Amino acid sequence: MSLLKPTVNDGAAMWELVNNSTLDQNSAYKYIMMCDFFAETCVVAKDDEEKLVGFITAFIPPTKPDVVFVWQIGVDPSQRGKGLASQMLNELVQRQGAKDIRYVEATVTPSNKASQSLFRRLARAHDTNCEVLDCFSEELFPGDNHEEELTFRIGPLR
Ligand SMILES: CC(C)(COP(=O)(O)OP(=O)(O)OC[C@H]1O[C@@H](n2cnc3c(N)ncnc32)[C@H](O)[C@@H]1OP(=O)(O)O)[C@@H](O)C(=O)NCCC(=O)NCCS
Repeated sequence: MSLLKPTVNDGAAMWELVNNSTLDQNSAYKYIMMCDFFAETCVVAKDDEEKLVGFITAFIPPTKPDVVFVWQIGVDPSQRGKGLASQMLNELVQRQGAKDIRYVEATVTPSNKASQSLFRRLARAHDTNCEVLDCFSEELFPGDNHEEELTFRIGPLR
């Protein structure tokens, strides 16, 4: 498995992986744009046949230069439960471009146990804290079928 910075050629495969998962759907444009402008803080995992089997889209919020915010992380169903998401997160925080990062933040719905376990495992691996804070309440979302989003804040790192 190779863990790489994405190029614009990876956006379509990220979008397809999301289409086949429980993650929120976004336009293909959004993935291509992330691959172009935020490649330093995004990760793609490719198998021996160069097939994209996992990805992270993340960015450093302009008002929080010591945080990397993980917008989405996804692993192909065939590769889940093998530590791939954890490896991608570790790749992200070890990059030269992330040298000033002290916290990883992500929002997670209360029912997404796999994602919660993933971020708690990251905190354990770095022997640091995992704080859980309120973030986006369900009233903010249109319709009535979106759960609230809680912030998982892991750090300080190092
Ligand atoms: C969440 C996701 C990225 C985890 O990927 P993964 O490569 O399987 O994760 P890992 O193998 O690195 O496992 C990380 C931790 O999550 C746990 N985990 C993985 N799948 C799980 C599941 N279905 N239920 C409960 N815990 C789970 C693992 O046991 C491990 O925790 P542990 O060390 O305490 O045992 C993957 O399940 C996925 O793509 N889900 C759909 C998309 C999604 O919900 N993304 C997150 C929201 S942005």
